[in-house]
Amino acid sequence: MNLSSLSFTAQHLVAPIYSTLPSAAIRGKSADSVAIEGCNLNFSFTARQTKDVQALRDCSLRIPSGQFWMLLGPNGCGKSTLLKILAGLLTPSSGTVYVKEPKSFVFQNPDHQVVMPTVDSDVAFGLGKINLANDEVRSRVSQALHAVGLADYMKRSVQTLSGGQKQRVAIAGALAEACKVLLLDELTTFLDETDQVGVIKAVRNCLDTSEEVTALWVTHRLEELEYADGAIYMEDGKVVMHGDVTSIRRFIKARQSAYINQINS
Ligand SMILES: Nc1ncnc2c1ncn2[C@@H]1O[C@H](COP(=O)(O)OP(=O)(O)OP(=O)(O)O)[C@@H](O)[C@H]1O
Ligand SMILES: [Mg+2]
Repeated sequence: MNLSSLSFTAQHLVAPIYSTLPSAAIRGKSADSVAIEGCNLNFSFTARQTKDVQALRDCSLRIPSGQFWMLLGPNGCGKSTLLKILAGLLTPSSGTVYVKEPKSFVFQNPDHQVVMPTVDSDVAFGLGKINLANDEVRSRVSQALHAVGLADYMKRSVQTLSGGQKQRVAIAGALAEACKVLLLDELTTFLDETDQVGVIKAVRNCLDTSEEVTALWVTHRLEELEYADGAIYMEDGKVVMHGDVTSIRRFIKARQSAYINQINS
């Protein structure tokens, strides 16, 4: 199922709903500390010839450490803008942001991720800025590639990888740098079904094997919610709902039915 064609008018918007999330606790993780927090974030794109676009309106969110959360909503609702603010790529016009460091933003297009000729050199690339012994570099690269299921691909040319494998190499690069927060913008858009599942399972595995890593994953695909510990739903620049996966899934399905009924009436 895909949310990209959905659009809703302002009268459908409801106040944000905040709820606690038992699912990660069930997986045995602590939900005590916060990895990502945004309070009353506003952001507008300024345009020279047209009106400014207010992309975010008073957005608030809070994601506990060690959890895998998803951010959903129709095209243009502000998901990428919010993610870029959390990544520090954009500055909000008002509001406050806290994201644990180090953090990494992984882009949608797999061909924009990889810079080095081989898998291991690409994963090690970001480590160049830290002064590490060669053994430590090798160990971090190996552990990171294991976490994303690419341990056997260490010496492969990146040009021979599928799109999903390139995304996993990018995620391994972030893990090798000991990133605590992964911000992932629609990684599965350009991928076939096998690659989509490979990437999402790789992220889930990273979180299941490390208490330290938190991920926020932007998607249009409702079926991907099965891998999440919690979710956020946005419309028209606002966080409309924020909470457990079952409630968010039910809420989005009700929205979709209402939309279909509206266009059929
Ligand atoms: N560089 C820009 N200049 C002006 N407006 C922009 C710019 N980038 C995004 N916008 C506008 O800001 C709003 C939010 O865009 P954003 O890309 O965050 O949405 P999105 O939810 O990620 O959409 P999609 O699902 O299509 O990726 C949209 O109205 C969009 O047209
Ligand atoms: Mg986007």
